[in-house]
Order: sequence, then structure tokens, then C-alpha cells
Amino acid sequence: MDVDALRMDFPVLRRTFNGKPLAYLDNAASTQKPESVIQAVSDFYSASYSNVHRSVSSLSMEATQLFEAAREKVASFLKAKAEEVIFTRNATESLNLVAQAWGRHNLRKGDVVVVTEMDHHSNLVPWQQVAREAGAKLEFVPVTDQGELDDSFEFPEATRVFSFAQVSNVLGTVNDVKAWTKKARKQGALVVVDGAAGAPHGLVDVFDADFYAFSGHKMCGPMGAGVLWGKKSVLEEMPPFLFGGSMISKVKKEGTTWAELPAKFEAGTPNAADAIGLSRAVDYLQRVGFSSIQKHEEKLLKTTLDLLSDVPGVTVYGSAKARTPIVSFNLAGAHTHDVGSILDANAIAVRSGNHCAQVLMDRLNIAGATRASFYLYNTEDECHRLADAVKQAQMVFA
Ligand code: ALA
Repeated sequence: MDVDALRMDFPVLRRTFNGKPLAYLDNAASTQKPESVIQAVSDFYSASYSNVHRSVSSLSMEATQLFEAAREKVASFLKAKAEEVIFTRNATESLNLVAQAWGRHNLRKGDVVVVTEMDHHSNLVPWQQVAREAGAKLEFVPVTDQGELDDSFEFPEATRVFSFAQVSNVLGTVNDVKAWTKKARKQGALVVVDGAAGAPHGLVDVFDADFYAFSGHKMCGPMGAGVLWGKKSVLEEMPPFLFGGSMISKVKKEGTTWAELPAKFEAGTPNAADAIGLSRAVDYLQRVGFSSIQKHEEKLLKTTLDLLSDVPGVTVYGSAKARTPIVSFNLAGAHTHDVGSILDANAIAVRSGNHCAQVLMDRLNIAGATRASFYLYNTEDECHRLADAVKQAQMVFA
């Protein structure tokens, strides 16, 4: 994999801040976009734009065909059927869809919903709300000191749902989706996987869950296109989430029937342009090759961990065996936002704060952390720049 060459595909990486080249290490929040994705969205608006699924005009049929081809592409990425792929705005909306549509329909008083201490608020809070409404109990799989899910956790008999992160957006821990799915299924639970931090690294061939959610913007796609994959039988049984155009079969004064999958869950004019952009992002990443990307990311992770272990006062959180290139850390005596500002002065973009994972912050007994997260276009040089800037911060705050 020629990183220098592929960096040329990402126009924003040519930018400088404070006279230094941008080192973009905030990929777990959102990734940059290659020219091909930007072009695909622009081409759609310039040449093929129309509403979809609504008209017999040649233009509308062309737009519809491009939108449905995007669905096919995402389905092949997931090794799933196209009718099981629902376009949403992002993983958050996908997870809310399941909690609201499946949860409100199926949860009863006394049921148990299980999430984990490492979940993003986008997974945790929707279930917390729906469980409260239904009188169901919310339980948490604990996180060990290594930052892994605690294997000794036993699912209560009354577990109806297990909804969990495939990869921690703070620790990078890759959870064993197959093993956890099997364990939850022993109690007959519905299994929902938040793949927002897993799909960008190609970790999509590991689940036999009921639902898998991810966001396009974290994997080189545009903002505003997310995916919910759901097992056909479960999607068919589940009521719709939003009501309106496109998801209707027949409307009478007396009542309404729903369209077939996936339209049943895509009310209103969809964001076809960004779905097409997302499919182009999948093309791009597949062309580079996920196994090459993963190898490159492993190197960046190792280099960063080695370099930071030499900086006095740095605590890195988590040491899971399976891990994506996310490094969250604190520097003794320094607030995470101050560390972030010193990194920014060096043109290094990271995220500071609680990372929408306050339950995990409580578990780690911290208010927040500085997070560097890497992707295919990052370089070893950027790992060194990060460590040098942290050393600079250490001199300021020591
Ligand atoms: N979920 C994104 C993150 O972890 C925004 O930063």
C-alpha cells in the first residue's frame, strides 16, 4: 500500500495550519473524503439529480438506478441482501430506529436490555429511554482493566436485547461479535451490533446478529448517509419507525399498509446523493484493500503506543488483544482540552473530551481523554509528530 500516493486522493490533506502540514488524527470522529467520493456526489447533482422512486421520467429512473446500485454495493460489502440494507442518516439514527421500532413494540415490564460499559451514547441512551418507558431493566456488561468486555458476565434469563459496540470508539477494543452473539442468543435475545467504529476497518464479515449499524462518514463517505442492516425476518415483523412517503403501500381513511423492504423503513425523500457517495467510498476502500489497510493501521498503532510509552506522565487507556488504531490518553497535570490545543498548535487534529462515552469515563475514573485515531492515509511521521507534541505539552504541564 503506497500511503504517499493515496494521500494525494484526499484534497484536504494538502492543507496547512499554523504553518505546518495537517496531521489528521481524528478519524474515529469522522474521516476525510477522497476525490472520487466528492466527485460522485457532485456528478449526481450535476448530471443525474432527481427524486427517486417517484416518477417515470428518464432522469428520475436514472437517479433511482444510481441509488439502488449504491444499495447493492453496500449489501455486497456486508455480504447481505439489498432488501436488508436500509439507508439512514448515520449509525445513531440506525440504532434509534431499532430501539424505537423493535424496542417499543416488544419490550415489556420485567424484561432486561443489556448494553456494555464501553458503549457510545448513541447505543446506550436509546435503549435506556425505551427500557425506562417499558419498565424493562438496563444492565451493563462490565469492562475489565484491559479494556475488554468481561467474559464472566452472564446474561440474565429475562434478556430480550443485547445491543453493543463492535469496537470501542475510545479504547479501540474489538469485541468478539460472534462469541457475544452466541452467548446472548442462549437467552433468546435480539442482538444489535453498533459497527460505527468497526465497519471503517472492514470488520463486517463477523456477525450473525439481527442488526448491524454504521455511518458512512467514518469510512470516507459523505456525512448524512448511514446504514442499518437487519435480518429480513426481523425487519418484516418490526413496525415502521417513521411514517410518510415511500414507506406506504396503501392509505385509506381507515388505515394504512406498509411497503416491502427496504422501503418500509425509508420514509420521505432519501439522501440518495450521499448514499451514492458512500458506495463510492466502499469502492475506494476495497480497491486499496482492507487487509492492507489493517496491516498499515497495526503498524501505526504499535509505533504510537511505543512512542507514548516513553513520555513521562502519559497514561494510555486499554490494552486489548484485538484493537483498532485508537489511542486515548491523558497527561498528568494537564486538562485534555489543553493537550488538544497544544496538538492543534502543531497542526495535529485529535478529539478531546468524553467521546460520547460517559459510562466508560466513569469506569476509567476520568472526566475525559485525548484521543488520536488513525486511518489508511496516516503516516509513521505523523505518529512521531504526535509524540513530539505530547512531549512539548509535558514540558508545559510537568
Ligand atoms: N462517534 C464519534 C466519535 O467517537 C463522533 O468521536
